Amino acid sequence: MSNKPLACVVLAAGQGSRMKSEKPKALHELAGLPMINWLLQTLEQLLPERIIVVTAPNAKDIHKAIKPHEAIIQKEPNGTADALKAALPALKEFEGNVLVVMGDAPLIKLQTLKDLIKTRAGAGMTVLGAIMQNPTGYGRIIIDENGIVHKIVEEKDATDQEKSIQLVNTGAFCIDGKNLANWLNKINNNNAQDEYYLTDLPAVAGQDRKITTVCATLDLSEVQGCNTLSELAILEKTLQDRLRTQAMEEGVTMLDPTSVYLHYDTKIAHRVLIEPHVFFGRNVTIEENVIIKGFSHIEESYIKRNAIIGPFARLRPGSKIGEEVKIGNFVEIKKSNIGNRSKINHLAYVGDTEMGEEVNFSAGAITVNYDGFEKHKTIINNNVMIGSNVNLVAPLSINEGAFIAAGSTITVNVPADALAISRSKTRTIKKWAAKYRKRKAAIIKKLKEKY
Ligand code: UD1
Ligand code: MG
Repeated sequence: MSNKPLACVVLAAGQGSRMKSEKPKALHELAGLPMINWLLQTLEQLLPERIIVVTAPNAKDIHKAIKPHEAIIQKEPNGTADALKAALPALKEFEGNVLVVMGDAPLIKLQTLKDLIKTRAGAGMTVLGAIMQNPTGYGRIIIDENGIVHKIVEEKDATDQEKSIQLVNTGAFCIDGKNLANWLNKINNNNAQDEYYLTDLPAVAGQDRKITTVCATLDLSEVQGCNTLSELAILEKTLQDRLRTQAMEEGVTMLDPTSVYLHYDTKIAHRVLIEPHVFFGRNVTIEENVIIKGFSHIEESYIKRNAIIGPFARLRPGSKIGEEVKIGNFVEIKKSNIGNRSKINHLAYVGDTEMGEEVNFSAGAITVNYDGFEKHKTIINNNVMIGSNVNLVAPLSINEGAFIAAGSTITVNVPADALAISRSKTRTIKKWAAKYRKRKAAIIKKLKEKY
């Protein structure tokens, strides 16, 4: 990479109207992180002197998201060249490389940017191009046989012949900082959209006998722009592929990677096995040797080593799952600590609970944590056995080693090693069923004879 000083400018002041969304385009999330932050993470690795993000006025949420980087406001969305112009005062007397990237093409790779900067060498500027089978919507780069860029034509201004060009402008430029202001001031808005196009810069730089070169990337997925929600989905797919590949390279086994959805901050240790159709939301950490079975949904949870989760498990925020714990099918856990080697294997709800070690929480048992106004805590100590279909009405403490009989609704604390049972006695009426069947059969016979 060039050892000239570097400044990065991210253009993110457009209206993003094609997104059909109230949210600014830059804040639309990919794997749970705003797209602008993915881009900033990559730019930070170039170790630039500064990163400037150009935004629209009143973009408080973007300003918050990009901290500690500085925001500069483009007063009106008059085009990409006008947006870069807004950053000029912040680049006064900066004579190094100015790397300009579009805020809506956030998956560009570090190496590609390094190559773009290196390729500029003595040239006035370098344009990052890509060859696309279907270039619709992108600016087309017109080059000569030596790869010198003559101009870039926007789709809306292109002739049919120009539209057939497949070398497109990805939107990333590396520009000689010394000439930037001078060139930008020469750009006008005589075009189909009455906007100041940054894509006019190569032609302007060329007039100055400065050479503009092109540096092309072969990986189209990294330069995909995001103008619509369906393009956002394409970016999400690319990013998910990257995150899954990274997890597998770090020793995570995925039986069907494309059906596993990761969050940007999902931490999965090596030797973890993930079955198909698993969703990870924000802030999940999984220690080694855990198995996550199919169709499980996990967010804001910590899972310790050797636990087995699912299939069809739901771990909601605040679930801390101990070592060797088993959480089985149709079990929901929320804001609860589950002690080592405890088992909650079938059809259960555990919320606002401190559960000790080696507890058995049987099928259909639930904590009744909400009284319609407030949430209450359930404490279940070590070695407790909760039978099937038990309601534990919180606040409640079940002390060490106690047994709760199946079908009980428990409303008071249970002492250690006790049995708590609260259900009506079984009454057996001999021969009742046989007599009932006989009576019913006679009625049906009569009805059949009648009709
Ligand atoms: C732009 C390029 C096009 C390129 C494509 C790549 C121009 C004129 N066109 O088109 O050649 O193929 O990106 O994705 O540059 N923005 C501002 N202020 C404005 C207008 C836009 O900051 O006044 C920002 C937007 O927020 C966005 C970026 O610039 O992040 C690109 O704008 P957008 O409207 O998406 O341009 P494209 O039509 O995608
Ligand atoms: Mg765009």
